[in-house]
Amino acid sequence: MKQIVAVLGHPIGHTMSPVMHNAAFEALGIDAEYLAFDVLPERLGEAIEGARALGFVGLNITIPHKVAALQYCEPDPLAASIGAVNTLVFGDEVKGYNTDATGAMEALRRAKVRVGGKEVLVMGAGGAARAIAHALVHEGARVVVANRTKQRAVELCEALGRATGTGFDELPALVQSCDVLINATSVGMRGESLVRGEWLHEGQVVFDIVYNPPETPLLKAARSAGAKTIDGVAMLVHQGAKAFELWFGVEPPVDVMERAVRRALAEG
Ligand code: ATR
Repeated sequence: MKQIVAVLGHPIGHTMSPVMHNAAFEALGIDAEYLAFDVLPERLGEAIEGARALGFVGLNITIPHKVAALQYCEPDPLAASIGAVNTLVFGDEVKGYNTDATGAMEALRRAKVRVGGKEVLVMGAGGAARAIAHALVHEGARVVVANRTKQRAVELCEALGRATGTGFDELPALVQSCDVLINATSVGMRGESLVRGEWLHEGQVVFDIVYNPPETPLLKAARSAGAKTIDGVAMLVHQGAKAFELWFGVEPPVDVMERAVRRALAEG
């Protein structure tokens, strides 16, 4: 019988996850299908239970459900300390994981960027920023979190213990002095950027988690300034690959997944 996996989010319209995972199923000859469902926040628990009752292998959980989904699973230590899950695996119990953190670190590793001892500026203090900042601290980076709403950055850093939270007042100086800049906000999807090109310089690494468009205004400015760039497709693919491994116990072909996503994005 066909195995089913799905992503639950709200809204869910433009997710690339089905294209990415279905390409991996085809390449590996696994008889499975990845679906996407728009689920209202107040029905998240029912949707998870329903998917489990129907025999789904597992789920991805995306915006805005990543924190709420914690109450419907047994999170592993990483997901518990981040305070959000994006992957559920069904078995005797519902296990919860957060592959955003590992996906972001894998994207950095593949680009041969070491963050240990480096000054890393994370813009944003939402769910994605939380997972990334957590992993960075774990890898020994010196982390600064800057967020439009300063209080959220301060609270995130208090929870992390070893990071500095701030608002956007000093953003130009912080961008100029960091070794690695990570945009973990949603800014960039509609042609905007929080960063001016003249704040960036050669020798820096700029990583944007926004994947549509693959080259955001931030990455374009970074490329012009001579900085190394990493796009959001890399993170999407590696968080997806990690989830795939948790569901099926095999490493999926990340190159096939990446090509499928890039083709779908190019086709619009
Ligand atoms: P996610 O789970 O994807 O991180 P989120 O929890 O809604 O989503 O967080 C969105 C992040 O993008 C927040 O850091 C948000 O800043 P605020 O905390 O001030 O809301 C940031 N963000 C969204 N739109 C923004 C904008 N126009 N300018 C600056 N920051 C923005």
